[in-house]
Amino acid sequence: PNAAPLLVAIDGPAGSGKSSVSRAAAERLGFGILDTGAAYRSLAWAAVETSADLDDSAAVGAILDVWTYAITLRGQQRVTVELGDGVVHDVTAAIRAHDVSGLVSRVSKHPEVRERLNEMFRRIVAESGLPGVVIEGRDITTVVAPDAPVRVLMTASPEVRAQRRAGELDGLTHAQVLADIEARDAKDAQVVDFFTPAPGVTLVDTSNLNFAQSVEAVVEIVRAAQGVA
Ligand code: DC
Repeated sequence: PNAAPLLVAIDGPAGSGKSSVSRAAAERLGFGILDTGAAYRSLAWAAVETSADLDDSAAVGAILDVWTYAITLRGQQRVTVELGDGVVHDVTAAIRAHDVSGLVSRVSKHPEVRERLNEMFRRIVAESGLPGVVIEGRDITTVVAPDAPVRVLMTASPEVRAQRRAGELDGLTHAQVLADIEARDAKDAQVVDFFTPAPGVTLVDTSNLNFAQSVEAVVEIVRAAQGVA
């Protein structure tokens, strides 16, 4: 049997570079990458698809009872959801839609839902068969994998995060993007605190780092933990 994969837990807000940097670092290390936000997004998508009440934890839990969720850990990301009727929906693109982003906190706020998704994340990692997995989200360093040998909190100033986002979103002013980011931070932060590094968590502030430097910072932290710095 395979040894348990080396876990690299990375938390941080949107626009910190967390997703793209985690992905590139995982590739450099030959590890898998588990994007946990994709599961929360898929659950919100499924609630809308089945006209379930997103604010009702039992209704959201009923989706978890029947769904089969799958996400690729290597290569191009692909996310699929099957809702108990045999139809496999490829939601890779749909879960990135702006309206889904705005709805996620309504499903992610339910503690029972979070516990069940956390169990799913631990199972996906344990069954991955990979030498290591980078797992990124908001509460990975604190709740999902508090014992991970490598734990990182990635941050960047709201202004820098808005600048990075503006590059992805056409037709919005810097002020609009910044307001959007701050509103989402405030909503997400009501669910979990992802701005304060927990004890033992390494803070990586990417405000003054470019993409390559941010990836290098994460790879170095992992290599140091592996004893091959
Ligand atoms: O990282 P992201 O933007 O894809 O996350 C989508 C949403 O899911 C966001 O509202 C925060 C939430 N989330 C969470 O509550 N816990 C996680 N571990 C990951 C994401």
